[in-house]
Amino acid sequence: MHKANGSLQTSGNHKHAIHEINIKKVSDVAGAEILNVNLQNPLTKPVLKEIMEALIRHHVLIFRAQSLSKIQQETFTRNFGEIEGHVGRLPNGQRLPIVHTVTNVDSSTGRPTVAPHTDGNYYWHTDKSYHDVPSLMTMLHAINIPPEGGDTLFCNMHMAYESLPKEKQKFFSNLRAVHSWEASRRNTGNIPATEEQKRERPPVSHPIVRTHPETNRKSLYLGMHTSHIEGIAEAKGKRMLDELLDAATVTKNIYRHSWKSGDLVIWDNRCLLHRADRNFKMGKYRRILHRTVVKGTVPF
Ligand SMILES: [Fe+2]
Repeated sequence: MHKANGSLQTSGNHKHAIHEINIKKVSDVAGAEILNVNLQNPLTKPVLKEIMEALIRHHVLIFRAQSLSKIQQETFTRNFGEIEGHVGRLPNGQRLPIVHTVTNVDSSTGRPTVAPHTDGNYYWHTDKSYHDVPSLMTMLHAINIPPEGGDTLFCNMHMAYESLPKEKQKFFSNLRAVHSWEASRRNTGNIPATEEQKRERPPVSHPIVRTHPETNRKSLYLGMHTSHIEGIAEAKGKRMLDELLDAATVTKNIYRHSWKSGDLVIWDNRCLLHRADRNFKMGKYRRILHRTVVKGTVPF
């Protein structure tokens, strides 16, 4: 853990500034709790800077026991950049709001339901990789959490890349994967994308080996939004991506977040895949989270 407020740390000849936030690492893969920040209060620039630095270092940050309204979550999210909308629609056809609700509660009956296997949240992905400019960060605020399970899994894709044999690292470094909303729907067996959605989100390609813009560390950039590899026959390319995903998402690369109501979790989509786990009684318990997404930069 870093020193508490008011302490001065030294490292070599460099004096570090006083730490504004207390950080407790929860896993070597990813994840740290920020212990002393109430997100309802306006945050100073030094606090925000340290939060951003902690995100770069730990990839997933957990703020426990928060109680933010949607407006407060939106305000906090805007500290990190431009908030993105979503190509998806609510059952009534309306566009999802800026702070939208991830839930297993049926809006017509008010009862929890079993999420269909077509629900993309349960497949490994990085948010909005089907955009030219995909997401930097996603924020989930847990409003209602089942007594057991309903976890979110995070896969450290730096570690996944670094675990590959050198020749595979080199081979994939020269290739780009095609990502699309249409492929994403297909890969999860969901209702096909509409013509309007296909027009709004045409396929894009991104490097399979991505360089983190803040640290220059490399990672694999994959997931359920991909269809194939540019320049390789589609079926063969898809198979290669599937194999790469299987090799990446092994237990040693995964941090499992067990939610408590009030948790607010932010994560770096540039170096992680994530998915929800179906390990709870979906038809019995409510799992409700508020989500915001911050736009990133073009992957390279
Ligand atoms: Fe997601």
